[in-house]
Amino acid sequence: MTNMEDSSVKFLSKVFDLLNDGDVFDSSDKCDSEKSMIDFRHPSELKKLIPFSLTDNIETQHDDDEIEKLCRDVIKFSVKTNNRNCHNQLFGGLNFYGLGAEWMTSALNTSQYTYEMAPVFTLIEEAVVNMSLQLFGFKNGDGILCPGGSTSNMYGIHTARQSKYPETRLKGNPEGLVIFTSEDAHYSILKGATFLGIGTKNLIAVKTNESGQMDVDDLEMKINDSIKNNLKPFLVNATCGTTVLGAFDDLNKIADVCERYNLWLHVDACLGGSAIFSRKHKHLLNGCERANSISWNPHKTMGVPLQCSLFMINQKGILHECNSSSATYLFQQDKFYDTSYDTGDKSLSCGRKVDAFKFWIMFKKHGMIGFEAMIDNAFEKASYFADQVKSREGFELVVPIQYTSICFYYVPEYMRKQEQRDETWWKGMSKVTAFIKEQMVMNGNLMLGYSPLASKNLGNFFRMVVTCQPLATYESMDFVLNEIEKIARKFEFHDHF
Ligand SMILES: Cc1ncc(COP(=O)(O)O)c(C=O)c1O
Repeated sequence: MTNMEDSSVKFLSKVFDLLNDGDVFDSSDKCDSEKSMIDFRHPSELKKLIPFSLTDNIETQHDDDEIEKLCRDVIKFSVKTNNRNCHNQLFGGLNFYGLGAEWMTSALNTSQYTYEMAPVFTLIEEAVVNMSLQLFGFKNGDGILCPGGSTSNMYGIHTARQSKYPETRLKGNPEGLVIFTSEDAHYSILKGATFLGIGTKNLIAVKTNESGQMDVDDLEMKINDSIKNNLKPFLVNATCGTTVLGAFDDLNKIADVCERYNLWLHVDACLGGSAIFSRKHKHLLNGCERANSISWNPHKTMGVPLQCSLFMINQKGILHECNSSSATYLFQQDKFYDTSYDTGDKSLSCGRKVDAFKFWIMFKKHGMIGFEAMIDNAFEKASYFADQVKSREGFELVVPIQYTSICFYYVPEYMRKQEQRDETWWKGMSKVTAFIKEQMVMNGNLMLGYSPLASKNLGNFFRMVVTCQPLATYESMDFVLNEIEKIARKFEFHDHF
């Protein structure tokens, strides 16, 4: 029997057709108001449409036609994130060369701990890490691909603690460790502090300015206070591209403070790190070469398929020092090859999915020039979108744009007339934003995130995210605002909001 006669192999080629039929690969330039990216159903309804349970009818074996029907339904009711009107998250569409490599990775189904199990992928990871270290200016660094930015940030806390308090590995946390991060930083820093036993009360929030950048004077004051209180500050987390406003902290100023107080500087560049590819925009990351460690998610703006996240450290050896456990069944020292290529012992996990290959293939295909063009296009279209927000009646920017995310309100006509923006006004604004979002999802042709921002006393506003994939166009930017206007016209918001 040839492979293709085996029905499970035939199923694989069928999967491609199902995805294709289901508009998963839709990358047309046109914004189609009728084209659905989601057929949203509430859980109770969805449970009736797909037989989810694995505990009912456990004796049943489905034939291939039934399996095909299940797969069609999974595609039908899933969000088509590659649709060009999907701006809901910090990731969006994906690059098809990256997707091809992701499929190959899954098919080869290996784990990136030892050279013998992943010879090619070990060298690919090394190449991706080296390229990234060079881009961010780490001269003698090391790095590893992690399952997501939250984990990369956790690596930042973990390695900082190892560097400043190496005895922790043996004895556990010393009393009084404290970390500083801005009030607009990603919540993964909080999770990391919890996970590593630092304690949430020992994560000190530093104020941000109106644009969401860390107030460095407040940072220094809080470091001094902690020293006076006999605490042990060891780490400052700066953010390049905050999750909501897209703000970039001033790395040089923060690095000066860290040097004065001998603190580890970790930079969460999960979102904004991709600006490094653009000669025009990489100044946003000025000073990153002075950091001790950096997290970066090419799976966000760049459109590398989920997940692709790098943790980089400007020092060799520490990753190994804090994570090595020298499992003798895996990392034998009497192997027949150079065991320094068994990189798994510097990772927190044992089995580790290969996440570098998809980025490597994309780099081989597009090169620096191609990546730069993609990033510049995302910035340019985001800036066009912001200009449209400023010029269209009823739309307002929350803050001037700093990256490729645009935060804005749609203010209904009756609310525009109200001079005082009091509590009732903001409550109304929050409801309007949430309502418009609901309508978008029910129409199924546009998805945009929204958020309040407690640190700025702001109620709900939209966060429009422009990524590199599919390539944003002026039309795709106009489409978003036109659709919001359509919803507003249809529902004629009145003061009951
Ligand atoms: C600034 C920032 N850092 C870290 C993360 C966490 O990344 P991940 O979702 O890959 O865990 C995010 C996610 O949105 C983020 O915006």
